[in-house]
Amino acid sequence: MYRKIIKPLLFSLSIERAHRAVILLLRIIGLIPGGRWLLHKCYAVEHPALEREVFGIRFANPVGVAAGFDRNGEAFRELAAMGFGFVEIGTITPQPQSGNPRPRVFRLPRDRAIIHRIGLANRGLETSIRHLRKPHEGVIVGCNIGKNTATPAENAPADYLKLFRNLYQYADYFTVNISCDNACRDGSTHTREQILRILEPLFDFRRGQNQYRPVMLKVSPDMPDEVVDRVADILLETPLDGIVATNGTYCREGLQTSREALEEIGNGRLGGAPLTRRAVEIVRRIHTRSGGTFPIIGVGGLMTPDDVRAMLDAGADLVQLYTGYIYEGPGLVGEICRALIADEERRQAEAAKAEAEAKAAAAAAPSEASDTASSETADAAPEPPLPSPEAAPGSGTNAGSGTNAGNGTAEGAGNAKSADGVSGCGDIPAGHSEKSPKTASGTSGEPAIPAESVPEHPGKQA
Ligand SMILES: Cc1cc2nc3c(=O)[nH]c(=O)nc-3n(C[C@H](O)[C@H](O)[C@H](O)COP(=O)(O)O)c2cc1C
Repeated sequence: MYRKIIKPLLFSLSIERAHRAVILLLRIIGLIPGGRWLLHKCYAVEHPALEREVFGIRFANPVGVAAGFDRNGEAFRELAAMGFGFVEIGTITPQPQSGNPRPRVFRLPRDRAIIHRIGLANRGLETSIRHLRKPHEGVIVGCNIGKNTATPAENAPADYLKLFRNLYQYADYFTVNISCDNACRDGSTHTREQILRILEPLFDFRRGQNQYRPVMLKVSPDMPDEVVDRVADILLETPLDGIVATNGTYCREGLQTSREALEEIGNGRLGGAPLTRRAVEIVRRIHTRSGGTFPIIGVGGLMTPDDVRAMLDAGADLVQLYTGYIYEGPGLVGEICRALIADEERRQAEAAKAEAEAKAAAAAAPSEASDTASSETADAAPEPPLPSPEAAPGSGTNAGSGTNAGNGTAEGAGNAKSADGVSGCGDIPAGHSEKSPKTASGTSGEPAIPAESVPEHPGKQA
């Protein structure tokens, strides 16, 4: 229905108009009694295998709305009812700002991409608070915050702090957006000093609060690898909780859209299919460099369940959609969730099969098990009692060892399950304790700083 009727209708409008219409429609549905319930019935997929615990927060599923979709927090409850596990609103700036002149958002259908230079248009802090005062009804809301364009760089920390203080009670987590500024498109202004000037006042404020709000940092995909590493090191060495990677790219390589059309569109960040590879690469690099112990929200070019699998395999704990949702429609969230459930069920079936095979093998070779057990016992105890020939069938006792061997296999399967990209499904929560084995295996080549030496991260150890 979306692809055949609604999408052509929406795509006949300018993208901003279509977007406005969708937000308005969602708000209207939200006002109708039972409206959100109906959306939930139509779109949401619920299953224990989808649940995740990340930075101390329980998510019903790992698929969220990326920043920029609900910039003012107008429809966060309706978006959650459409099946999203969380909604990141914003970017919110302290003062309302109208952004760049229109047109400023463009579809690239041949590339399944969008280019935008909205310039952080939003209605400002006060309007967002008005929307966020509505009961959250269990919806997990992230607030993405940024400085006003007119604020000079030296006053940026004050803008971020103002937003953080005033939104603190309404947000479940924060994303500090340093990646939307034209000046820092390639991360050249992402120096450690500049990032910490923004983050430290937020950490100071948080120390005085009763409730902990995780702080994430959103980064650009155009950063060279050294800057990605610098950001990962900040994650290791400061109370920063995690990374949102990535924003749109300024890169135009490998596009199907003609050069003339691109020139006509002009400047802007590109999201969608051409971004997938770079976004996944950045997530993998940060995950590896940080030893796999810190939350990462993967975003950028997630158009299909396979893209989401790749992002989770690269080390993301949660994912967000924007352009994929525009091109594939509201069914995409359910499609991803069903794919993740199927993956988990397959994994569980394989683990059960491996366990059954191990048990069968142990039962089929009792004397072998008995011999092994006997020789093991002999090694352990200097003077073992000699087994009488009649005791051989008593490898009934030894069958016990066989069972243990079976258990060993089952445990092994369990570990493999929790250590893979879509960890934490079913009974095994996807907290970072599940990722510790990866840290131990030293994927990074660089020693990860042990969690105890990282100050003040209650959320990270969830
Ligand atoms: C029209 C549009 C507006 C956006 N606005 C914001 C924004 O205000 N703040 C932000 O952090 N990211 C913003 N983004 C970036 C997205 O959140 C996302 O990081 C990026 O588009 C890559 O994901 P995608 O490939 O799924 O689109 C915007 C993206 C688009 C397409």
